[in-house]
Amino acid sequence: MKAIILSGGKGTRLRPLTYTGAKQLVPVANKPILWYGIESIVAAGITDIGIIISPETGEEVKAKTGNGDRFGATITYILQDKPAGLAHAVKIAQPFLDDSPFVMYLGDNLVQSDLDLFLEHFRVNNLDALTLLCPVENPSAFGVAEVDENGRLLRLVEKPKVPPSNLALVGVYIFSNIVHGAIASIQPSARGELEITDAIQALIDQGKSVEARQIRGWWLDTGKKDDLLEANRVILDTSCLDSNNLGEVDAQSRIIGRVHIGSGSKIINCTIRGPVMIGDNCHLENCFIGPYTSIADNVRLVEVDLEHSVILQGAKIESIHHRIVDSLIGQRAHLKEATCRPKALRFMIGDDCQIELN
Ligand code: G1P
Repeated sequence: MKAIILSGGKGTRLRPLTYTGAKQLVPVANKPILWYGIESIVAAGITDIGIIISPETGEEVKAKTGNGDRFGATITYILQDKPAGLAHAVKIAQPFLDDSPFVMYLGDNLVQSDLDLFLEHFRVNNLDALTLLCPVENPSAFGVAEVDENGRLLRLVEKPKVPPSNLALVGVYIFSNIVHGAIASIQPSARGELEITDAIQALIDQGKSVEARQIRGWWLDTGKKDDLLEANRVILDTSCLDSNNLGEVDAQSRIIGRVHIGSGSKIINCTIRGPVMIGDNCHLENCFIGPYTSIADNVRLVEVDLEHSVILQGAKIESIHHRIVDSLIGQRAHLKEATCRPKALRFMIGDDCQIELN
């Protein structure tokens, strides 16, 4: 069994962060989203992993993720020169996949369920495709499955205006090598992409053994800001279980609950109420940091009141005398307020930024 993880795409819904970086590398609880997928695949015993990259962000994904040693895996990078669809990604990965059955994992998905049980079900029942489903409130945003009363997969539709059910296709699929023939038989969709849902539909139409199983637990597609904040909340709740201080905390500071502080970080006269993750070499002074906040490496926060937010590497926030909530602050962004009441606001804001002044 092999695995491919899709880590291309343009990440339009996370702009402006994704103008300069891959959406799969945006951190959740200070770890790139992509790495959760790699870890879950390795935990299921699959160590031969292909990562599909794009010309725009591929080098960054490679540089950050490496050859797989840190995960106990072997990673092969496969370049998809244009975003021509999920099934197109499988097509170009065929030389890597050879005749092997494989897991296909979308690199911006976070799934709580272990893969083992699904892999076991796939093997024992000799399936050609196993898709994972999750009930959602907004099925039109996803691929949607129509299943019969026994849970058998009848039909799949991509982003339907009128969804046949509330069961969305989770971005994790298991296939036998038969899928390559199905992909060769389909045409690009109206949006010009080779859709994996069409390939699975072709397998259903050919009477192949295709099944769907509902996952237990949470599934998060981290494509948008609020999804990313929610993923950060859920991961901090489930994986930041202990306090761990590798930095320096002065006597005036109060650390309450589960708080991780990375090495080289200095905490001066702050109150931090977990769960909170703080990376390496950060400087926090006169701050209140509330629950569900992740602060990446080399961040400087002075006189800031912040909660339920994700702050990326190298950002600086100083003297903001308003509470900052539900925010996603990009790498090296700098926010600063005048100490006296400002007469005017001065901005340099990148394309597609969203600023709310209340
Ligand atoms: C893709 C698939 C869709 C699936 C979703 C899960 O959509 O086409 O069927 O439900 O991933 O994340 P995309 O996120 O590329 O719009």
